[in-house]
Amino acid sequence: MSAEESDALESGELTLIGRITDASNATLVCDAVSGANSVRCVYKPIRGERALWDFPDGTLAGREYASYLVSEQLGWSVIPHTVLREGPFGRGMVQRWIDTPDRHGDGAAGLDLVDICTPDAVPEGWFAILQATDMEGNPIVLIHADDPRLQRMAVLDVLINNADRKGGHALEGLDGSVYGVDHGICLHTENKLRTVLWGWAGTEVPGTLVADVGGLISSLEGDFGVRLGAYITPDEVVALYERAVDLVAAPVMPRPRGRRPIPWPAF
Ligand SMILES: Nc1ncnc2c1ncn2[C@@H]1O[C@H](COP(=O)(O)OP(=O)(O)O)[C@@H](O)[C@H]1O
Ligand SMILES: [Mg+2]
Repeated sequence: MSAEESDALESGELTLIGRITDASNATLVCDAVSGANSVRCVYKPIRGERALWDFPDGTLAGREYASYLVSEQLGWSVIPHTVLREGPFGRGMVQRWIDTPDRHGDGAAGLDLVDICTPDAVPEGWFAILQATDMEGNPIVLIHADDPRLQRMAVLDVLINNADRKGGHALEGLDGSVYGVDHGICLHTENKLRTVLWGWAGTEVPGTLVADVGGLISSLEGDFGVRLGAYITPDEVVALYERAVDLVAAPVMPRPRGRRPIPWPAF
C-alpha cells in the first residue's frame, strides 16, 4: 500500500458504500477518500459492537488492531492494513478491503483455499477437517489447502489465540497474498483457539516462521508489549508472550482441544 493510500486509510473521509448484512456487528464497507486517492475499506464502529460476556475488556476494534500490530511485528502482513480512527459513527477500526477473485472451474481451480466439497472430490494433498451432511443428508467435507500462506495464518492464529477463524475469514486476494480478517475475538488469556485450519495439527512449524516468532518475543520484551497494552490487558500481553515462548520451545502445531475447536458456522 502506497504512502498516499495509507494516508487515505488513516485520515481520508469515509464514504459509506454499504453494510455487510450477515455480519454479527455493524460492519460497513466504505471508501476512504483523500484528494485523488480512494481506498476501499471495512469500518467497524465501536458503537456497533455487540457486547460479549467472555471478552469484557477493551473493544473488539482494539483487539483487531492489536492483532494487526502482531502480524506486522512478525513481518507477515497476514492482516490487511488496519487503523483505529474516527468515522461517521464514531471511533472504530478501519481495514483495507481485499478484492477476491470469482471462482469458476473444476477441481482445486474451482475451490477457495478453505471450502466444502463431496468426499470423493477432495483434491490431492488437501486436508479434510470435518465430515458433515448437507440439508439433503448427503455427505460433505470441510477442506483446506496445504498452502504455506494459509499455514502461516494458522501459526498467527495460535499466537493471537484466535477464537473465530472461519473459512470466510481467510481471503485469497487478487494480489496473490492470503489475508485474514475479523480478529475481534483474539488475544484472550485462556485458550480459545477455534479455527477451520487444523490441517497442520501435530506437525512441525517451519523454521523460518519459528525464527520470526523469536523476533516477536524480543520485541515484546522491549517496547512492543507496552504498545499493545493500550489495546489489550496486561495479562493478555503476558499471555501472548507465553504463547510465543511456548511455540519456540516446542515448535509443533497444537491439536484440537476444548469443547468446540471448529467455529460454527464454519464460513
Ligand atoms: N478487509 C476485508 N476485505 C475483504 N472482505 C472483508 C474484509 N473484512 C471483512 N470482510 C468480509 O466481510 C465479512 C464480515 O466481516 P467480519 O469482519 O467477519 O465481520 P463480523 O465481525 O461482524 O463477523 C467477512 O466474512 C468477509 O467476507
Ligand atoms: Mg465474521
